[in-house]
Amino acid sequence: MRGPFTVAICGCGSRGLDAYAPFQTAYPEKMKIVAAADPRPERLEKLRALYGVAAERCYPSDEELLAQPRLADVMIIATMDRMHVKDAMAALDKGYHLLLEKPISPDLGECLALREKAHETGRAVVVCHVLRHTRFYAALEDLLRQGAVGRPVTIEASENVAWWHFAHSFVRGNWRRRDTSSPMILQKCCHDMDILRWLASERCVKVQSFGSLDFFRPENAPADAADRCCDCPRRGQCLYDAGTLYLSDPHCGLDVIGPNWPVDVVVTDPTPDKLRQALRTGPYGRCVFRCDNDVADHQTVNLLFASGLTASFTVSAFTERCHRTVKVTGTLGELSGDMAETRLILHRFGQPEEVIDLQKPDGRFSGHGGGDFGVLHSLFDLLASGGTQGLTGIDASVESHVMALAAERSRQQGGQTIDLAAFEQEAIRQCADT
Ligand SMILES: NC(=O)c1ccc[n+]([C@@H]2O[C@H](COP(=O)([O-])OP(=O)(O)OC[C@H]3O[C@@H](n4cnc5c(N)ncnc54)[C@H](O)[C@@H]3O)[C@@H](O)[C@H]2O)c1
Repeated sequence: MRGPFTVAICGCGSRGLDAYAPFQTAYPEKMKIVAAADPRPERLEKLRALYGVAAERCYPSDEELLAQPRLADVMIIATMDRMHVKDAMAALDKGYHLLLEKPISPDLGECLALREKAHETGRAVVVCHVLRHTRFYAALEDLLRQGAVGRPVTIEASENVAWWHFAHSFVRGNWRRRDTSSPMILQKCCHDMDILRWLASERCVKVQSFGSLDFFRPENAPADAADRCCDCPRRGQCLYDAGTLYLSDPHCGLDVIGPNWPVDVVVTDPTPDKLRQALRTGPYGRCVFRCDNDVADHQTVNLLFASGLTASFTVSAFTERCHRTVKVTGTLGELSGDMAETRLILHRFGQPEEVIDLQKPDGRFSGHGGGDFGVLHSLFDLLASGGTQGLTGIDASVESHVMALAAERSRQQGGQTIDLAAFEQEAIRQCADT
């Protein structure tokens, strides 16, 4: 058996450093981090301390890392949404295989260009659709393939983001604006589009969508609200008071969850004093009604697949828990589940209900429902076998991006139905014209 695959991490934030790098500790025989890039010195310092990467192989930018000759077998690209394609193109030219964070890009033309480049270079480009690598969705898909409900006819799915998570990421945080990151239906839900496509096991042909930014808007601010929570007369009473949320809230307060996500996004290595200071001056201390956010806070998508199978999907900020649900109905039964409960309920028509417990321990499925490590196992298995696509290769991923971006077009056009083949052709024509 060959030794570990060597890896360079481009972007050592929550994903690069906190979600993927720990794979080296768990599976040293599979992965060895040998280079990295990030403009934040404290992130590189942490990476070096934890994983023994040489100082001379830590670079302050993607450009400097990519200016070197190829330093590893694989590059993990975990920079922000709009940097992915530029970095991925350069890395493919250098001969790297890629683990690429989603979304590939909010620009469909760029997604298509990267797919073409991956084909030309013959390198593997695995996109981080981590849900396919969770025990929950893997078991669901397996049951459907075995014909547990006969021929699937409808799929109903929901993503419940949770009010505090939405405020953190999509009102105050990095993914609040379409122009600096992506529309919410792509950013948060390209995973869900990918899962619907995978469960349907056929191409999606049309989508239609409604949704808006309903609540986190200036007109919904209480008349006496200040721009920052620390200056606000409602401090301590408002649901979204940043001081309470990040210091003591049961979902995301430092006192309760410790120095973990999302507190460590507000400030690296958080302490109460460092947090208070960051909330006085940084983006996470702003009033949720007075931010510069513009992404939708709720959206619903209807989808038609090639055989006539229909699906409906809803994403909402306004939920207490952060979880996903799904229900598939078929000609012979129905299958449903809540990802947070890690069990599936199968009802074959005319027979008693079966509850399928997915909680049995299994090393491959640890962490984030198994998805973060699962996608790395899948990548290294793929490379060992000489393949290039795998379960979440670029070809499959681009389909989910076409679905999500068409849904966003529909939402902006008041719910008009979008034909996906025509939508993709339009992007191909635009690429050819530029
Ligand atoms: N697969 C998933 O389930 C999932 C979950 C969350 C986020 N994501 C995606 O992962 C990506 C990263 O998200 P994150 O939460 O880690 O964000 P993050 O902000 O924590 O990390 C991004 C990192 O990139 C670094 N960076 C900025 N400019 C750089 C440059 N020029 N060169 C190198 N590094 C640079 C930043 O300093 C930061 O450390 C995003 O595209 C996001 O959409 C995917």
